[in-house]
Amino acid sequence: MAQQGLVGSIMKKGIIGIIIGVILVVVAKLTGFPFVFQVMFFSYAMLGALVFILLDAPTMNRLEGPKAAIGLVVFYIVLSVIFTAGASGLPQYDPEVEKGKIDKLLKARKARTQKGKADELIARAKALDERAIAIDKKLNSLGGGNIEVVEEVVPAASGAGGDIVALGKEQWELQECYNCHKLGGEGGKKRGPVMDNIGSLMTPEQLKEKILDPKSWMAEGFDKQYKKGKMPDKYKDLMFDEEIDALVAYLATLKNTSVETPKPIKMN
Ligand code: HEC
Repeated sequence: MAQQGLVGSIMKKGIIGIIIGVILVVVAKLTGFPFVFQVMFFSYAMLGALVFILLDAPTMNRLEGPKAAIGLVVFYIVLSVIFTAGASGLPQYDPEVEKGKIDKLLKARKARTQKGKADELIARAKALDERAIAIDKKLNSLGGGNIEVVEEVVPAASGAGGDIVALGKEQWELQECYNCHKLGGEGGKKRGPVMDNIGSLMTPEQLKEKILDPKSWMAEGFDKQYKKGKMPDKYKDLMFDEEIDALVAYLATLKNTSVETPKPIKMN
């Protein structure tokens, strides 16, 4: 085909390609395809036009010997560059990054509901406490004989406290303390100290200190693990204050003296 004819063919098929591409983009847009897909459809139309243009292209002179080899290598390099550049031009998704984002979202949501629950329980406990005090005062002002009634009210308030302990137990599960700490004969595969009697050995303040800063205390006989920093130093970042308080409230109830629990030693 003459040079003139080739230019004409490129023009004609190129224009047809662009028209088809535009039609595809409009249809894609109307049917709600994302922008990336619209670009992709347009590229396909142009690719089709290119194929038809190539069909009309004049035959090249036959290459032989080293020239043919070089031609082949150049062809591969050009193709590779086009594919690599084209692919890296598209939006990139790293599955790990996406997973990380989802985990964060879930964690924040979970944390928020936990916090909401703890807040509500603390508020309820406070309200009950105030009511108990008010009733106590009233009965006192009426004079005598009030002891049994007050005793009836106070357990209701500590009943809400019991719920905080349940929340703390939930934190024990959620934060996976059981992975390293045996409790009630369960867990502790990663060999941290047994926890059954920790409530007798540490005050709530000390327990909180240990969770917020694992280096603050060391379980007796666990020098190696302590030095290696086996107990994770992440809970201060992962947990809300209320969650830590609930966990501590739960740990403080663990007073099973029949299970030997390593003695905590104050480190710094
Ligand atoms: C990856 C393992 C691991 C996880 C998970 C872990 N710990 Fe520990 N923990 C240890 C090790 C090991 C020790 C002993 C060395 C030390 O005291 O640092 C320890 C010590 C303790 C002690 C002191 C015990 C004693 O007898 O003196 C307490 C309390 C404690 N951990 C609470 C927790 C709580 C609560 C959680 C969950 C929020 C938790 N740990 C999660 C490994 C872990």
